[in-house]
Amino acid sequence: MAQTFEGIMKYPAADKEMAGKAMEEAVRIVRADLGEFTEKFPSSNSFGGFYEATDNVEWTTGFWTGVLWLAYEHTKDEAFKEAALIQVDSFLERIKNKIDVNHHDMGFLFSLSCVAAYKLTGSQAGKEAALMAADHLAERYRENGKFLQAWGNVGEASEYRLIIDCLLNLPILYWASEVTGKKHYARMAENHIKTAMKCVLREDDSTYHTYFIDMETGQPAYGVTHQGNRNNSAWARGQAWGIYGIALSYYYLRDESYIDLFCRVTDFFIRHLPDDLIPYWDFDFDTGSTEPRDSSAAAIAVCGMLEMAKYLDEEHAKKYTDMAYRIMAALIDRCANKDVKQSNGILLHGTYARDSKDNTCKNRGVDECNTWGDYFYMEALTRILTDWKMYW
Ligand code: GLY
Repeated sequence: MAQTFEGIMKYPAADKEMAGKAMEEAVRIVRADLGEFTEKFPSSNSFGGFYEATDNVEWTTGFWTGVLWLAYEHTKDEAFKEAALIQVDSFLERIKNKIDVNHHDMGFLFSLSCVAAYKLTGSQAGKEAALMAADHLAERYRENGKFLQAWGNVGEASEYRLIIDCLLNLPILYWASEVTGKKHYARMAENHIKTAMKCVLREDDSTYHTYFIDMETGQPAYGVTHQGNRNNSAWARGQAWGIYGIALSYYYLRDESYIDLFCRVTDFFIRHLPDDLIPYWDFDFDTGSTEPRDSSAAAIAVCGMLEMAKYLDEEHAKKYTDMAYRIMAALIDRCANKDVKQSNGILLHGTYARDSKDNTCKNRGVDECNTWGDYFYMEALTRILTDWKMYW
């Protein structure tokens, strides 16, 4: 059943007291995990509720370092800062040695770990690593089509596509332009978001997950899903990446045309939420479905709404803040882990990937915690509690 904004206003909203308690609970879990995840990182998703320890690989390790920075900012406890700085050294080694970085996720990895370290502590290792990551990401920019190629070897025909998630990898490029004074990083990011939104946004305001670009002409070719239920469905997390990604590019570029894009993508997300406001992993599924949820999509969307609300007129700012606070109350109530014996994660009920007949995924992290869900949930709490200065 479609939601209305008026209908959602009847739900309870998070407030500072509720968010404060939830933050304390989250920090308690982070503290309990610190011993296991300082030299090592938590796996992308939990298994039976528990993250395993991994090396600094995949696209997800930066989220845990980001969690440590958020815990440090909240508590001022040096133990979190020290652990985060140990991880920053690991990121510097990773980018110097090009370990598992043949993809576009330099923003997810290096903004929340290394840019954060530089912004919070002046860490030169953080700055060096993040600038190297920005250079590495810039190598994926394809002038023919004006986009950042997501996966695979650059310039390969079978991999010549962009994905909506990449909007969260753009801030490291904007930041690199600010820090170095070199404009080419920001130019690539701006060109990418223009191309991406032209491709992925459908007439009904839902989004494609991935979109191929014709290698001959540089023109948009066709959209397919990777993690959604169908090529033409709206993968919940993809829609959420759209919400927050547009808000982040607006922050850096102040391009007024992004306001309409933001409202369209966000309104689709809100209108398609099920009765308890925790999205299923794809918007093909609605209230009463037995399909799993993706709590991380809700947390990402909340961060995007709270960021964009800063720049909107009063009426729209209130609307999206009201929606964000209600989704947040639902997350705190239904998805926050309140028992370290049940899980070493912070936000339960995420879905990394769910196999369907039309997508190319295997089930992974279904109804589990994932590190980005934990991170965005804590970022959302931080946004409710403070006038937070972004790591992005
Ligand atoms: N960016 C990959 C994912 O959201 O699963």
